[in-house]
Amino acid sequence: MRQFTPVEINHLTKFGFDPELLSISVEESIPVEYISGKAEFRGRNFEVNRDVLIPRIETEDLVDIGLTSIINQESISFADIGCGSGAIGLSFALELKERDIKFRGVLSDISLKALEIAKKNIKSLFGETKNIEVIESDLFSNFKDEKFNIIFANLPYIPTSNINDLQDSVKNYEPHLALDGGEDGLNLIRKLLNSAKKFLTNDGVLLLEVDDTHIDPGEFETEWDIKKRNDTNGFNRFWICRVLVTLPDQE
Ligand SMILES: C[S@@+](CC[C@H](N)C(=O)[O-])C[C@H]1O[C@@H](n2cnc3c(N)ncnc32)[C@H](O)[C@@H]1O
Repeated sequence: MRQFTPVEINHLTKFGFDPELLSISVEESIPVEYISGKAEFRGRNFEVNRDVLIPRIETEDLVDIGLTSIINQESISFADIGCGSGAIGLSFALELKERDIKFRGVLSDISLKALEIAKKNIKSLFGETKNIEVIESDLFSNFKDEKFNIIFANLPYIPTSNINDLQDSVKNYEPHLALDGGEDGLNLIRKLLNSAKKFLTNDGVLLLEVDDTHIDPGEFETEWDIKKRNDTNGFNRFWICRVLVTLPDQE
C-alpha cells in the first residue's frame, strides 16, 4: 500500500483525486504528477505525462534570471531549447505579458511527444497565439536564421553513470531522453555552446541549467563569459553565458 507524503496528498486533493483510494491501487513510486497529469510551476498548472520531465521547483529561478536580464526592452525574443512541457518558456512569456513587454518565443524539443504536451499548455495558458512557435528540432538543427535576446536551455545533464543512483520515482518514470546527458553530463550543453552564438543578439544571453557537478565551465571560457549561480538549495545549478567580445590585437 502506497503511503503518500503530506505534499503528495495536497497535490492529489487539489486536482480532485482521493489519496486514500489511490493508496491501494497505485504503484509504489509513481510521481503524483503523473497520476494527476498536472504539475505546478511558478504558481501555474501545467499538463504533464510520462513523455515530459516534471518541471522542478529549482528551475523556477531560471525564469527570474531571464526577467532580470531584460533592461528597458519593449520587446523580447526568446527560445526555450528542450522545452518539455514548456514550463520555462511559457512562464517567461506570461510574465513578460504581465509586464506589458511584447514577445516572440520559440519552444523546441527533439521529442514530438513532448511537443504535443507543450502545445496543450500553450492552448490552456494562452489560447490561440501567434507569438509562440513550436519547433521539433535537435538543438538548433531546424531553426531558421533568427537571433534571440534570451535562450533558455534545461537540457538533459545527468552524467550517464549517475542515472542508476536516481530515485525510483525519477529513473523508472521520467523519460531518460530528458535526463541522460552522456558521460560527463555535458554532451548536449557542449554542442549547444558550440552552436548558440549565431542565434543570440549582440547583447543576448544564454541561460543554462546544469548539474551540481558542473562547477567548472573553463573549457568554454575562451568564447563565453560564464557566470555561475546556485539554486535555492545552495547547489551549483545555472550558467549565465554571454558571448565573449574579443578585441583585435593592439599593435
Ligand atoms: C531536463 S528536460 C527539461 C524539460 C523542461 N525544459 C523543463 O525544464 O521542465 C530536457 C528536455 O530536452 C529534450 N531534449 C533531449 N535531447 C534534445 C536535443 N538533442 N535537442 C532538443 N531537445 C532535446 C528532452 O526531450 C527533454 O524534454
